[in-house]
Amino acid sequence: MAQIGLFFGSDEGNTEGVAYRIAQRLGEDQVEVMDIADVTQLEFTDYQHIILGIPTWDFGQIQSDWEEFWDDIAEVDFNGKTVALFGLGDQFGYGDYFLDAMGMLHDVVLAAGAKVVGYWPTVGYEFEASKAYLPEQDCFMGLAIDEDQQEQLTAARLNQWCAQVVAEFGLAIEVRALDD
Ligand SMILES: Cc1cc2nc3c(=O)[nH]c(=O)nc-3n(C[C@H](O)[C@H](O)[C@H](O)COP(=O)(O)O)c2cc1C
Repeated sequence: MAQIGLFFGSDEGNTEGVAYRIAQRLGEDQVEVMDIADVTQLEFTDYQHIILGIPTWDFGQIQSDWEEFWDDIAEVDFNGKTVALFGLGDQFGYGDYFLDAMGMLHDVVLAAGAKVVGYWPTVGYEFEASKAYLPEQDCFMGLAIDEDQQEQLTAARLNQWCAQVVAEFGLAIEVRALDD
């Protein structure tokens, strides 16, 4: 069985695409990629290492499939599990709500007992406000991906973040650097 469970929600396919690009870097035999629209809480029990992907929609709102799963995810026991998050947003179009949904999901899994890794520096982004911003550490609560404004930076960001997360997970996975 794959060592890592990756769960994503996506309205228009950007987050889904990034989910599979992460799997390509970590190795498709290492990661099981699942749409949050198709799973139950049970799938979460199978994995000690979990990656969650969520875009923000409609001025700071949670993507619709994640919203439907919201009560369920809060009831998952994340004790003993390590979680890394990635969020998609548009920093120029929605700079007052940049990646808010990732911040909200972060708080839910933290409260449910998860150890969260994969925090990401804010260098190279421009935004006014974000619920995914941690002022004490001047970082995002997970990888920030902007396919609307900075698509050309995504491949390198994924390469760097995947290597970081594998190390923080403590897994012996050789990460492939891709130029996709
Ligand atoms: C109507 C609309 C509202 C959006 N609202 C936000 C927002 O509040 N914050 C943000 O960071 N991005 C916002 N976005 C940008 C999306 O998060 C971004 O396009 C993302 O890549 C979509 O991911 P998906 O294709 O996986 O659904 C919005 C986009 C649209 C079209």
